Amino acid sequence: MPHSIDRVEVIIGDITQLHVDAIVNAANNSLLGSGGVDGAIHRAAGPELLAECRELKGCATGAAKITRAYNLPANYVIHTVGPVWHGGRNGEAELLTACYQGSLDLAVQHEIHSIAFPAISCGVYGYPIAQACEIAVTTCADRIKNTESIQRLIFCCFDQQIESYYQAAITAYAA
Ligand code: APR
Repeated sequence: MPHSIDRVEVIIGDITQLHVDAIVNAANNSLLGSGGVDGAIHRAAGPELLAECRELKGCATGAAKITRAYNLPANYVIHTVGPVWHGGRNGEAELLTACYQGSLDLAVQHEIHSIAFPAISCGVYGYPIAQACEIAVTTCADRIKNTESIQRLIFCCFDQQIESYYQAAITAYAA
């Protein structure tokens, strides 16, 4: 089995257009959508996604829940709620780590073989990007090390800046 980091890739693009088994949504606790990548996913998936999300009755910060993907090219949406950055002494790192771990646990349970993540908490929630990308890469690469079922893990960035932080974190991890 290839080294776990060899199954990780970074792209710049719109996560709603990716043909993967699952895309991850940076949601909020209500799961009722809003702006950012959450808004983009709901717009692309259509109203049935919101209808299914309503039945989930919300999601705790650091937790993850799964739905179908409706009009998206993906088969599933894994909704996870990242921490809002409050300076780093409120368990933010542990909660962000839990988002990636919980999302991958659901992926394994649902035999998902390709999954794409946005930069959770790096937008509205204000998480420092370098730290967030380091947590994302380390948590995901460690988690898939012994998980053959996850064959492709994509970090889908919306801009060049975030991509460079992911690349730096991958280089550091592989060293
Ligand atoms: N594809 C990929 N990445 C995207 C897309 C997209 N279509 N749209 C936005 N992003 C990127 C942002 O540029 C940012 O880097 O996703 C990252 C996460 O930013 P947010 O969407 O603002 O998510 P977050 O910081 O976790 O804040 C979550 O925002 O939209 C609301 O309902 C959501 O309240 C929640 C909060």
